[in-house]
Amino acid sequence: MYLQRRNRILRQSPALRSMVAETTLLPQHLIAPLFIDEGEGLVTEIASMPGYYRRSVDGTVKEAKELWAKGIRSVLLFIKCKDEWKDNTGREAWNDNGLMQRSIKAIKMAVPDMVVMTDVALDPYSSYGHDGIVENGQIVNDPTVEALVKMSISHAKAGADLVAPSDMMDGRIGAIRKGLEENGFTNTGIMAYSAKYASCFYGPFRDALDSAPGFGDKKTYQMNYANRLEAIKETLLDVEEGADIVMVKPALSYLDIIREVKNQVTVPVSAYNISGEYAMIKAAAKMGWIDEDKAILETLTSIRRAGADLIATYFVHDFVRIIGA
Ligand code: PBG
Repeated sequence: MYLQRRNRILRQSPALRSMVAETTLLPQHLIAPLFIDEGEGLVTEIASMPGYYRRSVDGTVKEAKELWAKGIRSVLLFIKCKDEWKDNTGREAWNDNGLMQRSIKAIKMAVPDMVVMTDVALDPYSSYGHDGIVENGQIVNDPTVEALVKMSISHAKAGADLVAPSDMMDGRIGAIRKGLEENGFTNTGIMAYSAKYASCFYGPFRDALDSAPGFGDKKTYQMNYANRLEAIKETLLDVEEGADIVMVKPALSYLDIIREVKNQVTVPVSAYNISGEYAMIKAAAKMGWIDEDKAILETLTSIRRAGADLIATYFVHDFVRIIGA
């Protein structure tokens, strides 16, 4: 048989395959989400996220140091708020001595070069478990945005490098940018969860922070998974309002959205490989149905290939182990 073109030539050996690989996956592409709790010496495995833990600040600092030594350059902080500090205003969120603020300071003190990002949304602090303030059963936009601005300024004051609003209220990126400018935080960036879908795959995360909505769902602010153009509309608006990095979330059922967004913006694009996506791989691996390490590498590489410059993922520890960092 005579063939003018034989595509298998470049697939012959590991060396050739690595030379022509179109996508790279390196520790600096990953963002490590960390769950933080009050107390000392506390380590709790999250039942629906096997191998992932909630730690008190001391353990979190230690973890940040280890991650830095292995080449991870960024952490994304989430805290678990005590029930007695939750209310409908979410005011604990901008307590300058709150758990989030103390954690930011402790990490920046121990690993000054680590890029510290913080989740900005009211749900862990809300007695209703919603990302906004509730009035007459509705999540009200504008008072929530005011709260998010206070929260962001408080994180910036504590030393956060980027705040990451994950709430999907309208106008919050512009308001936060303005608040940071007016308060002199001209070096604090914003990673906007721009296209965040109402997804069932957040379930394990809500277990981790005890932050499931007390009534209804999040469909009046998070996006409908049937929509694609809406993701572009949301993302372009966030860029216009001052987002430094935009995010698509979740990642795996939304690879098409990541690519569309990547083609439309000139800011870096991140994707959040969320808790349910982590749980599915861990569960199948535990059953012996898939090869866990291979599934992790394939998953993360496909998210990069789709167009994500950065990936927030719970597989950070697995990844550095697999590559032997
Ligand atoms: C809070 C927030 C959520 C996640 C990140 N920030 C949950 C939600 O919106 O209900 C989900 C992360 C994950 O599932 O891994 N606004």
